[in-house]
Parts: sequence; C-alpha cells; structure tokens
Amino acid sequence: MMKIRLEFRVAEVLSRRGGLLSSGQFSARGRIWSKYAPNGRHGFGTGSCRLSSVTETTRKLIESKLSLDGRVTVITGGARGIGLTLAKTAAALGSDVAILDVQEPEMNVSQLEQEYGSRFIFHRMDVTSKVGMELAFDKVVEDLGKVDNCITCAGIALDKPFLEHTWEESRRILDINVLGSFFSAQLAAKQMVKQGNGGSIVMIASIAAHCAIPAQRVSIYGASKGAVKLLGKTLAVEMAPFNIRVNTISPGFIATKMSAQFADLQEVFRTIPPMGRIGQPEDLAIAVGYLLGDGASYTTGTDIAVTGGLHNGRIEV
Ligand SMILES: NC(=O)c1ccc[n+]([C@@H]2O[C@H](COP(=O)([O-])OP(=O)(O)OC[C@H]3O[C@@H](n4cnc5c(N)ncnc54)[C@H](O)[C@@H]3O)[C@@H](O)[C@H]2O)c1
Repeated sequence: MMKIRLEFRVAEVLSRRGGLLSSGQFSARGRIWSKYAPNGRHGFGTGSCRLSSVTETTRKLIESKLSLDGRVTVITGGARGIGLTLAKTAAALGSDVAILDVQEPEMNVSQLEQEYGSRFIFHRMDVTSKVGMELAFDKVVEDLGKVDNCITCAGIALDKPFLEHTWEESRRILDINVLGSFFSAQLAAKQMVKQGNGGSIVMIASIAAHCAIPAQRVSIYGASKGAVKLLGKTLAVEMAPFNIRVNTISPGFIATKMSAQFADLQEVFRTIPPMGRIGQPEDLAIAVGYLLGDGASYTTGTDIAVTGGLHNGRIEV
C-alpha cells in the first residue's frame, strides 16, 4: 500500500482519519493527492479505503465544493501562526493568496509559491491604519485582480487582571482586534460587491468570546473577540443579499507564538482542554477551508468553536 507523504499537516490529519475527503485529498487541484497517490489507492493508519468505494461523481462533487480554484483569498495577520497556516490552506485548495501583515511572513512568498503552486503576495499593512489598509487592498486587486475570500486573523492578546487594565492598552486591543477586523471585512466586502459574485469572509474570534478562560485574565481581549463573534452574525445578515457569507471561528488554546508568550501556562494549555491536548493551527484549517468554499454556500453567520471541547466546560477538576 502506498505510503502517503503529505507535506502539509492538514492533509495528514485528513488522511489519518480516512474520512470522506480522503479521495479528493484536500487539494481540489489534485496537486497533493495525485502527486503522492497516483494509483487511486491510499493507506491510512487505521486501515485502507478504495477510491472505488466512492463514486467518481460524488468525489468530483466533493472536490468542487471544497475547491478554491481561481479564487483570491486575502488574509490579515497571515505572516505567522494561525494566519500563515490558513494562507497555506487556501493555497492548497487552489486559491491565490494575499498576506497582509505588519511583519514579513515567516516563509517567504516565493517559497510558498513553489510549494503550493498558487500565487502568493505580501503587503505590509497595519490594521489600525485606514490609509494603509485601503492602499493594501487596492494593491491586492491590482496584483491578483480581485478579492473572493477574506480571513481576518490579525490580532493581539492581553492577559492581565481587569483592575490593572489601562486605557491605552485596552484601546489598542479594540483597535486591532475589533476595528481592524471590522474594516478589513468592510474593504473586502466593498470589493466583492463591486465584483458582483459574492464571497466568503471568515473572522477569527476566540474561545474568549464564549467564556472566561482557565488561568487567564483576558477581559478586554474577550470583549474584543465577543465583538468579532457578533460581527460574524450581523454582517452575515446584512451582506446576505450580496451573496457574501460571513462566519467566525473560535479557536481554543492553539500552539503559536501568541500562546507561547504565556510561558507559565503551557501545562494548562496542554492539560485543561477536554480533548487532553493543545490545538495546532492545522486543527483550524479544514473548518476554515470549508467556510471559504462552495460547500458552505448556505452557511452564514455561524461560529465554529475549535477548542478541544473547552468552551463547553470541564468535568474533571
Ligand atoms: N493562539 C491562540 O491560542 C489563539 C486562540 C484564540 C484566538 N486566537 C486568535 O487567532 C489570531 C491569530 O493568532 P496567532 O496565535 O496566530 O497569533 P500570532 O501572534 O502568532 O499572529 C498574529 C499575527 O497578527 C499580526 N498582527 C498583529 N497586529 C497587527 C496589526 N496591527 N496589523 C496587521 N497585522 C497584525 C502579527 O504580526 C502576526 O503575524 C488572533 O486574532 C488571535 O487573537 C489565537
């Protein structure tokens, strides 16, 4: 049985589960799949699955519903962490990708282009700058021709007792996390309305939008993410007549540089979620890929919590 060597960890997760998507193998262009399993058979950790068990028609339908072929996806905060993983996800599904961030991407764009076979561009952009944002979105349209999808991922966190929060730091959290997400979505939606073909916007909220978080004091951060989560609903309703869908993702503890800054909480992040582990950025990939694609064409205003169950509470203490 051919051993699948998938360079992209999301595809590994899919293949390990041996699920419905395995025959389309994640890349709608078939790049990853056809590269590693040209004989149409593939092995999984738990057994095997024959392509013939799924009809060709169903397989093509599933592929088309996940495909982002020919689309352009803009990602704020895509230079590293969750945003960079989601940029790779969009590319693996066939989309060209624009990364907008205050810092250079951790992987350079030509390397990303080589690995994923999609176009990648990067523009430095601060989500607190109106002019900078307008210029960056204009540049995306100039370079890639359009905007079909937007993921608002740029964000910062603050873990500090409520009684010690200052005006300045609280305002900065709201500026970046709320207004930055709001106006990124607005610029994307304006372009989508102009194009007349609809679009999909996914805004990254947080488990902090659902409840207090064990061992952290994140009141203003939680408020900012609560705002993002509600924007997902209100914008979904307002933009529905334009066939623009807006949804949110609420990650739990995810292993990135953001969570790494809380060095003394790493054990909590590993042990507290009911699923018994910290999440990886790749755990969010398929949820976002689904929301971007046509498979979610009737899904808008929803939030997908990817927290290892933590937003539902805990039994063990
Ligand atoms: N890591 C987690 O545990 C976790 C949990 C829930 C939600 N989130 C959310 O997911 C998103 C990504 O988080 P991450 O863990 O990848 O963090 P990260 O710090 O690794 O990445 C955040 C990115 O946002 C960019 N950014 C910050 N301020 C910006 C600004 N003013 N303008 C443009 N870009 C800016 C950063 O440069 C960075 O590339 C954030 O919105 C965060 O709140 C993260």
